[in-house]
Amino acid sequence: MAREGAQVVDSPHCPQPHAAASVTQAARAVKCGMETSSPSAAALAPARLDILRPDDWHLHLRDGDALDAVVGHTARQFARAIVMPNLRPPVTTTEQAVAYRGRIMAALAKSGIAADRFTPLMTLYLTDNTPADEIVRAHASGVVHAVKLYPAGATTNSDAGVTDLLGRCAPALQAMEKVGMPLLVHGEVTDSDIDLFDREKVFIDRVMIPLRKAFPGLKVVFEHITTKDAAHYVRDADGPIGATITAHHLLYNRNALFIGGVRPHWYCLPVLKRETHRQALVEAAVSGSPRFFLGTDSAPHARGLKEHACGCAGCYTALHAVELYAQAFDLAGRLDRLEGFASLFGADFYGLPRSTEKVTLVREDWTIPDELPYGNTTVVPLAAGESLPWRLES
Ligand code: DOR
Ligand code: ZN
Repeated sequence: MAREGAQVVDSPHCPQPHAAASVTQAARAVKCGMETSSPSAAALAPARLDILRPDDWHLHLRDGDALDAVVGHTARQFARAIVMPNLRPPVTTTEQAVAYRGRIMAALAKSGIAADRFTPLMTLYLTDNTPADEIVRAHASGVVHAVKLYPAGATTNSDAGVTDLLGRCAPALQAMEKVGMPLLVHGEVTDSDIDLFDREKVFIDRVMIPLRKAFPGLKVVFEHITTKDAAHYVRDADGPIGATITAHHLLYNRNALFIGGVRPHWYCLPVLKRETHRQALVEAAVSGSPRFFLGTDSAPHARGLKEHACGCAGCYTALHAVELYAQAFDLAGRLDRLEGFASLFGADFYGLPRSTEKVTLVREDWTIPDELPYGNTTVVPLAAGESLPWRLES
């Protein structure tokens, strides 16, 4: 089967890979009011940028061989990461989170990375049946830093997710509000009659607003926001709310999914939206508001499961995330705001100390590899084969 798949991709009867410009170039050609890529702006921009080491507030590390393959990429870039719990089976208890943390630390050691170099911040997967005392245990562990809401059926491994948030999860939400444990929200409704591109907007009205009215003290992170509606909702809301924004949602609009043919490596959930939404996300990210911070949502899938008749959702950016964000902030002419977004505001929101070590970004073209080892297969990094203008010194 894998051979058949490869033949289709390489088929001389499919002109698309050759006909298409790079997705990044094509995306750049889209007129964007935020961009300041004129030669004069580039000439004024710095050649080096020192910032405190960033943290990733939304990451998929997987498990087993996949974990071994990817953990080093994130640890090279980030000081800490909030690790998503959507394994199979999902991480629903503190005990499971502690065990998963142990496997991550073992994978780091196998990659030759010192234990004090990278800290995984664990999360629990909220279900209809999460008891309040599990939240208390999670909080007391010092290992679990948040609880993730996946609406059932919304995305990868979300079958065990929540079917009725306020109806079924009130005891857990109450306990979280009480102990100050943040709820990380995959903000999409799953009703089949709602257009895929409207799922985030509808979620705000049907779930987010009632949730925050019922639990006004609950810390909420609206994860991987993709719309102007979500950016403005978070910007204008009262109370303890923040949002993560991915590098891919800052750099690309939905055209990237179809440039010269279907581009499965740009497919993620929530899906890329139209250009007006991308511009609103850039505006939020570079605004200097501490409510918006970095979360890659880097989500590796084996190459064959992306290049597939029913391809998996997720963009793999752990290898080059900081560089992708630097590019987005540079295009907006706001490299000066990168450090707050990438290295300060997330830690502040979670009530954790800011990282202290500095890293350096240099303006230097390099080419993103075509693929990377991933167990007995490979994973394709986002924008593979394309050139990036910033490089993180390790
Ligand atoms: O694109 C996505 N991939 N979105 C998610 O919410 C989950 C993730 C994954 O785990 O693959
Ligand atoms: Zn995610």
